[in-house]
This record gives sequence, structure tokens and C-alpha cells, in this order.
Amino acid sequence: MIDTEILTEIQKMDLCSPPPEQEPARQYYFIRKLQSWMEEQRAEKGRMLTCHVKTFGCQMNARDSEKIIGILQTIGYQETDCEEADLVLYNTCTVRENANLKVYGRLGQLKRYKKKHPEMLTLLCGCMMQEPEVIEKIKTSYRNVDIIFGTHNIFKLAELMAMKLLDRPDSKKMIIDIWENTTEIVEELPNARKYSFKGGVNIMFGCNNFCSYCIVPYVRGRERSREPEDIIAEIRGMVSDGVVEIMLLGQNVNSYGKTLEHPISFAELLCRVEQIEGLKRIRFMTSHPKDLSDDLIEVMSKSTKICKHLHLPLQSGSSRLLGIMNRHYTKEQYLDLVRRIRQKNPDIALTTDIIVGFPGETEEDFADTMDVVEQVGYDSAFTFIYSKRTGTPAAAMEDQISEDVVKERFDRLLKRVQELAAERAGKYVGETVEVLVEERNGQDASLVTGRTSQNYLVHFPGDETLIGSVVSVKLVESKGFYYIGECVEG
Ligand code: SAH
Ligand code: SF4
Ligand code: F3S
Repeated sequence: MIDTEILTEIQKMDLCSPPPEQEPARQYYFIRKLQSWMEEQRAEKGRMLTCHVKTFGCQMNARDSEKIIGILQTIGYQETDCEEADLVLYNTCTVRENANLKVYGRLGQLKRYKKKHPEMLTLLCGCMMQEPEVIEKIKTSYRNVDIIFGTHNIFKLAELMAMKLLDRPDSKKMIIDIWENTTEIVEELPNARKYSFKGGVNIMFGCNNFCSYCIVPYVRGRERSREPEDIIAEIRGMVSDGVVEIMLLGQNVNSYGKTLEHPISFAELLCRVEQIEGLKRIRFMTSHPKDLSDDLIEVMSKSTKICKHLHLPLQSGSSRLLGIMNRHYTKEQYLDLVRRIRQKNPDIALTTDIIVGFPGETEEDFADTMDVVEQVGYDSAFTFIYSKRTGTPAAAMEDQISEDVVKERFDRLLKRVQELAAERAGKYVGETVEVLVEERNGQDASLVTGRTSQNYLVHFPGDETLIGSVVSVKLVESKGFYYIGECVEG
């Protein structure tokens, strides 16, 4: 749903004057121009124009796509699942090589659609577009892409579209607008939230950590935090629209607020968010272990709204490798942190990310990773095979590990991670917990699906009227990744 105040501002734009310099008014101007164009299109074609947005990658991209869809819907596009729409946009990810391969696969497909529908407008954006060699490849191999933009100028979508559709409709020239970095945060643009009862809220953008394997700082730019007042206002607005659960988003939420004019810590921000009336659940992602403060542990233990789940990426259990990865903690410090978190938050679920096969990883290094997995007993873990990313320090390291060694280690790790997770999940059977109902079950229409505070999925008998509410559910059976439950009260 688009904020009515924003819609009113857009209607006020005077299209006879040149576009304003200031944001977001400048974008409102182009949205207004495109709305007029859309009316003409609709009259000509006798139908609404459709848009299809496909998102790759993490929660940041998912949130960016909501903003993109918000702008497109305000212009007048109707969102569709159909991949042969009037406008097709791919919001890309490049964190691992296979993320890029997926996008190239789709681009091949897009080429075929575009042959059938030459009027189709095709746009690419997101992290992968911040890589110069990707742009070169698209320029030579996928020449029918219309507009490319990056991670720093999503807010300019309407302006770029106006350039293409209104200023040079007959030109076949690709519009490419990639910024290397930015300090700008444009607030108050339309946005279309995917769910009515939960949503992500960016608290910061970019990353300054430069873990030696990771491309994110290069494609998302330097860390910058939003003003707490803007964050609180956004959440209040969401709550008044019916949202009960929010997820605060940042590559490293624990370093939130350090660069603000009036610095505040993440723990302080959480305390302010906690006070928002009507909000029931608070989640956040991701916590870098090096910056997780005792204050945060304390705030989590006292809060009635912060969910009992912490995603705490380990990456490796070897202190030697952690040093080379530039993670700024050792195996012992990580284990001590877990001990302190659990001491104050005994029922917390811990999840993690682990990379296998980082350059130079020895059997002893890997044994350390297995040891941490054993000692912590994660509720779940995302395990990744190391992927060489151009431009990162690790890509230039000499002792890259052979594929079969990595695969063998990866399989061993995955097996153990799953066994331990199943053991832990079994312990909760018989408990009655609060579940936020999210959707009707895809396979069995007599069931609904929701999440516990600890982020476990639960399927239980119920109907659509429960969606968006928090109900008490008894966990009857553990199926490893999810539970079967029964509702204790409506
Ligand atoms: N900012 C988050 C993670 C963002 S990327 C954090 O620090 O936790 C998500 C995960 O992808 C990382 O935690 C890491 O495990 C994995 N990852 C990043 N770069 C990778 C690479 N080059 N190869 C394999 N996995 C990688
Ligand atoms: Fe990548 Fe490290 Fe930043 Fe996470 S903290 S995004 S892993 S550089
Ligand atoms: Fe991918 Fe960009 Fe997220 S690289 S993981 S979409 S920050």
C-alpha cells in the first residue's frame, strides 16, 4: 500500500516547470510525468501495463524490491507473476559465483521474451550491476537490456524510466547509471510492502568490515546509518497499517549509529523501538560477533518484544583463518560470546553462516569449525562453499582448495549441522509457544504456517482468518526443519 501523503505530494507536482533539484521531490516529478504517460498507454492498449520484479539474494535486496515495486505501482503498473510482462526487472545478487550464474541464466530467457515482445521494457539493478565486468558482459552479450542501475541509486528509478520512455522512446541505447558510492539516503519514497503484518526496515546501508572473502562492501558501499527518528517514524507508520513484526536490517546491525551526528548504539535503538505501542515482535539481521555488546545481550534478555533468535555468523571456527578472513574475533572469543548470550537468554535460538574451503583451510582448521558447531549446537546453519569473488583479497590468495576436498568437508559439516539441529528441535516438542501466523499452508489447505519467536516454522490446523495474528500453539511433533502443532487458543 502506498502512503496517501506521498500520493498527494506527487499529484501536486507542476509538470510545466523543470524538475526540482531536491530529493524526493525530483522523483515525485518524474513519477507524475510517467503517470500521465501511463494513462495514454492504458487508453491506447485498453488494459493496464504489467510489471514483473524478480529478486535474487538477501533481505536487503528483498527490501529494495519493495521500494522498486512501490515506485512502479505508483506510476500505474500492475504487478504480475507472469515473466512476460510489459516491464521486467531483475534485482541481482553477486555474493557467490552461483548467484551470478542464476542471473545470466534468466538473462538468456529474457532475450527470448524480448524477441517475442519487442516493446517489453527490461531493467537490471542490484549488487551484481556494481561490478564493471558484469556491465561489460551485458553490453556485449545482452544488448537488448534497456536500463541498468546499481545499489546506490534505486531511488532514481522513475527518472531513469522517464529518460527512456519519454525523452528518447525510439532510441535503442542502453541507459546505464551506476554510482560507485554514496552518502545519500533518500527517505519518503513510495514502497509496497510484501506482507501486511510483517516487514523489513533498513536501519543502515553498506558495510565497512571488508571480510577478505566478501564482495558486499564493494557493491553496497560504505556503512551509513539512518537517523533513529526516521526509523521510528517508519515503524510507527507500519504498525498503524497493521504490522506486528518488524525485522531491522543491516549488514552489521551491531555497528548501527556510530557515524551519526548524534551517535546512538544498536541497543539504544532497540529500546526505543520496543516502546512503540502495538508492535509485537522485533527481529534483526545480521549481527557481527565482533561488535555484539553486553548492552545488547542485556536488552535482549529484558525485552518482551525482541524475538528469541540471534543469527551470529561464525564463518570459520579456526582462529588462524578468522584472522586471515579479517573477522576480528577468535574461536575462543566467539565461544565466550555464545556463553554470555545463553547465560542471559537461555531459551535463545542461535543460527549461523559457515564457509567451507576458504583459501589455505587445513584439516585442522576445518576440525576447529566442526568443534564450534559441536559445542554451540546451532538451531540451524547456512553452510556455503567458498566462492572466489573478483577484487576481494581472498581471491588473490594462492592456496585455493581443490573442489573434491571442499566437497567432502562440506558434506561432513552439513550432515553434522543437520543432526545437531534435529536434536535441538526435538527438545521443544510438548511446549506451548506463541506463533505469528503467516500464511495458508501451500500443500494442505486445512493448515496454516507460522513462526515461533525462535524462528521455527510451525504448521497447524487453522484458517486464513488467523493470518497476521499471534496465537498459542502446542508443538506436537518435530520434523527437523519444522514442527506440527495444534492451536491452544484462537
Ligand atoms: N553481513 C552479513 C553477511 C552477508 S553475506 C554478515 O556478516 O554476517 C551472507 C553470507 O554469505 C556470509 O555470512 C558468508 O557466510 C557468505 N559469503 C559471503 N561471501 C562469500 C564467499 N565469497 N563465498 C562463500 N560464502 C560467502
Ligand atoms: Fe561481508 Fe563481512 Fe560485511 Fe558481512 S560483515 S557483509 S561478511 S564484509
Ligand atoms: Fe547478495 Fe547483495 Fe545481499 S550481493 S547477499 S543481494 S547485499
